[in-house]
Amino acid sequence: MPAALPPLPSLPDLPMDRLNNFATPVSWGITDPQRFQELMEELKTLFTPGYYMGDNLITWGRNLSAFEDPAFVQALSSNIQNPSDEAIAWRRYLLVCSACHAMQLDGDFVECGVYLGTGIKTVIDYFGKQRFGKPFWGYDTFDYHPAANHNFAEQRAGLFEKVQQRFADYPQVQLIKGFLPDSFAQGCPDKVAYLHIDLNNAEGEIATLEHLWDRVVPGGMVVLDDYEWAGVYRAQKRAEDQWFQARGYRVFPLPTGQGFVIKR
Ligand SMILES: C[S@@+](CC[C@H](N)C(=O)[O-])C[C@H]1O[C@@H](n2cnc3c(N)ncnc32)[C@H](O)[C@@H]1O
Repeated sequence: MPAALPPLPSLPDLPMDRLNNFATPVSWGITDPQRFQELMEELKTLFTPGYYMGDNLITWGRNLSAFEDPAFVQALSSNIQNPSDEAIAWRRYLLVCSACHAMQLDGDFVECGVYLGTGIKTVIDYFGKQRFGKPFWGYDTFDYHPAANHNFAEQRAGLFEKVQQRFADYPQVQLIKGFLPDSFAQGCPDKVAYLHIDLNNAEGEIATLEHLWDRVVPGGMVVLDDYEWAGVYRAQKRAEDQWFQARGYRVFPLPTGQGFVIKR
């Protein structure tokens, strides 16, 4: 391996006879939560080991790689702010794996849609804040959600300062407060190796792609948090499919609800 490559957290040698299981009642769009939980308990008795239930994902007989990676388990568990943060472990692990790839490219890290900063912090902590040498830019309105009546629980005056405080010891993190795409005018990297777009609305995400896509370096990772989610999020897939089609790309749809594209 060339000496210049940054070391990735090491993976243990795994036994053949032990698998992790993960189950949380945190999923969305369930009409009868009590019945759902009863069924989850029953499913546990029917499944072979290696099951994951949560975040609208039910699967079994899997390696659950996320939970086999000690650095990730530590980064995930030390950053949990609410039950959703635990439920979306598989999504978070895909961010970390994307980061392992993007770390080794020219270009900065960017997250559009930061909220509490848990996505950014989990990725950096996976590598270790001293070892993570890439600038990481985070864009959000923070104190309010731009879509009316869509505020997340902690979106109120003062959130920006609270998130800044969370990153007080992380000089590589640059948080930019404002409405996207206008806030790119406050600062924006010339080269992007990792782009996580999580704005929960098609208009903002397309505007972000318009602004940043040409800055994504060849091999750069673009992760779209809601691409494969249906319901209100379906508008994002519809818009993003057309946008990427026009550029000769097909988004990889993931069972986690995310989508990703690797720039050529
Ligand atoms: C789902 S949250 C982000 C969660 C975060 N990525 C994580 O991993 O924890 C979506 C965020 O997008 C922000 N947002 C949506 N549209 C925006 C826009 N046009 N400009 C700036 N922020 C926006 C909201 O304020 C909200 O905090």
